[in-house]
Amino acid sequence: MESNILGRIAPNSTPIQADMIAYEGIVPKIGEYVIIEGDEGPLLGMISNVVRGAIELSRGDLLQANYYDKILDLLGSPSDWSKATIRIIGGLNGDELSGLPRSPPPTGALVRRAPKYLLSKIFVPPNGRGLRIGKLMTREDVDVYLDPNELVARHLAILAVTGGGKSNSVAVILEEILRMGGVAILFDIHSEYVGMSFSDCEHCEVEVIEPVLDPNYLSVDELASLLNISYSSAAKMYIYLKKAYKMAKTLLNKEVLIDKIDKAGIEAEKDDLLAGIQAILTLSLEEDGEELIHINSRDRDSVVGLISRIEYVRSSYGRVLRPTAGELADHLNYGKLVIVDLGQLGSDLTDVVVGKTLTTILLRAKDKKVGRGYETFPTPVLAVLEEAHTLIPPGANTYTSIAAASIAKEGRKFGVGLCLVSQRPKKLDSDVLSQMVNKIILRIVEPEDQSYVRRATEFLSEEMISYLPSLNVGEAVIVGPMIRMPALVKVRYFSGKRGGESLDAHRLWSEGLHRRLSASPDEYYGSIGD
Ligand SMILES: Nc1ncnc2c1ncn2[C@@H]1O[C@H](COP(=O)(O)OP(=O)(O)O)[C@@H](O)[C@H]1O
Ligand SMILES: [Mg+2]
Repeated sequence: MESNILGRIAPNSTPIQADMIAYEGIVPKIGEYVIIEGDEGPLLGMISNVVRGAIELSRGDLLQANYYDKILDLLGSPSDWSKATIRIIGGLNGDELSGLPRSPPPTGALVRRAPKYLLSKIFVPPNGRGLRIGKLMTREDVDVYLDPNELVARHLAILAVTGGGKSNSVAVILEEILRMGGVAILFDIHSEYVGMSFSDCEHCEVEVIEPVLDPNYLSVDELASLLNISYSSAAKMYIYLKKAYKMAKTLLNKEVLIDKIDKAGIEAEKDDLLAGIQAILTLSLEEDGEELIHINSRDRDSVVGLISRIEYVRSSYGRVLRPTAGELADHLNYGKLVIVDLGQLGSDLTDVVVGKTLTTILLRAKDKKVGRGYETFPTPVLAVLEEAHTLIPPGANTYTSIAAASIAKEGRKFGVGLCLVSQRPKKLDSDVLSQMVNKIILRIVEPEDQSYVRRATEFLSEEMISYLPSLNVGEAVIVGPMIRMPALVKVRYFSGKRGGESLDAHRLWSEGLHRRLSASPDEYYGSIGD
């Protein structure tokens, strides 16, 4: 018998599902792709469940294993049977996949394993140019590619428990994008990727940058968020901030603002909008100072409060707030990955840095598209956000949420794609998550997370969801327009260096001990001070 033949279709098939009785000695595997000989031509299907039994051991009254022993002593091995459930994916027209058939496959129809050439053809994007993500879990001889156009246009969520293989998947996708000359920015919340490099790619460049915010580019609402005030929570402070902001903006870059800053006795390095706002408020508050903006006497306390918030933010965020630093988006380029190392930053500042940068990227891409400048801004660009649930929680109005929602909605037109990575899908805003139409879902154990992901995913069947808890590291369900059909994929291991891999306590301790024992006490204690 032909080695690819698995079995024949059993009675009660439907156009979407059929049972298959396997030939002797064949135990079908879940996730295996098969070809069924349908009336209207061949059908492609996937095995979604398998049951197995033994004829001689199927009597209902064999209620002790001893009875099994006796029968097995007599028989040797029993006659094994297997029955598989096949979910029908669609009809095949040559190598082309079409819709579901209108009639079920006939009982007795032959079922074969799908040949490699066919599957290989299906898992490559239509134009043949794809991102090599890994192999089919059940067919290690079939490479799976993702369509970069659809990935950027319809965005991506990578979801799994911690240690499920999310960051490895991110690294693989970024590597493939850079090899194509693509443009990417990665917001590295836990400094996981700072040692990243790509092997065998001459033009691939990685730049790790410290997060900086140029206060001179911030909008009044972005400033208000940094100062932790809003119109609804502190209306007076907000109004005075807005007034002083307007004035400082008009005086910026004209030597005048620096004068005011000097006059108010505020220390600032360069033309600094935030210091300018502080100066305008301080001078306006002084009895005999110049009243740059009018302050009602009953609002003085609010303005004093506002000034101290500005002082606090300038002193505690001094490292990040750098006037004339330019924007992170300036660093983007073709064949280059920009890693923004956010590990040292608090969450409020992280939100503003990420939100601001995403907004700037979208604005520049828009301007480029409509011919309003930024002709050389590199697009399409993919922005990857790790730990997305911390910045885009359900229903929140964080800066990052607002920016992510705009990119989710409009990014496609201007070539800005978003990739959100999270181990807590249910803590991610459901609107934003459902707009990440492509998904790479690795191991997810928690039922609530599973059903949340299910609701936010168009193409995910109940059956695919049922695989999620049992997936091993790096094994994923991949769905969405970037792949021709939903598939179980073993993501390949990233071939470059990622940095931030798991802690190797044993190695670090033994190396440290070796250094301690081999150094003289003077050298050792001397070197600790370095
Ligand atoms: N596809 C894979 N093949 C082999 N090992 C993998 C794969 N994906 C992840 N790993 C390993 O599993 C560990 C956790 O992976 P990681 O991507 O950091 O998980 P996560 O980001 O989901 O916490 C890493 O040490 C990594 O080397
Ligand atoms: Mg990770």
